[in-house]
Amino acid sequence: MKKIVFFLLSLTLWMAQSSFAQSNQAAAALANQSGCMACHKADGKLVGPGYQEVAEKYKDQPGALEMLMQKVKKGGAGTWGRIPMPAHPQLSDESLNILVTWVLKGAPAQ
Ligand code: HEC
Repeated sequence: MKKIVFFLLSLTLWMAQSSFAQSNQAAAALANQSGCMACHKADGKLVGPGYQEVAEKYKDQPGALEMLMQKVKKGGAGTWGRIPMPAHPQLSDESLNILVTWVLKGAPAQ
């Protein structure tokens, strides 16, 4: 009996982990498709700030998700330097949500 419970528990954990990985991978693919990676890397500045730095800056800030979704949609400058980020009006709220949620996790590849 114990063995079965243990087996089911590991199976659940394994499934939870692999769907987690899938969603990070899907977000990373979306970031590639949307052109974000032309200016951003996970770690370190490119044209814009590295996503891990962004995650660090906003980690204790309530409302950061909504604020950053608007910023990516409308573009803007002044938070990280004088180079502006262009607007991305083509992105749906759902895509913006997936992208910024992933950025705020530090942009894990897996
Ligand atoms: C042409 C270059 C460029 C592209 C493409 C780009 N960014 Fe940016 N991004 C920047 C720059 C530059 C900044 C810094 C803006 C500032 O200092 O306020 C920035 C800032 C950010 C920030 C932090 C904003 C803040 O106020 O702290 C996030 C989050 C972000 N980008 C996400 C994205 C996402 C998601 C995409 C793809 C949809 C994307 N970026 C595409 C250049 C770019």
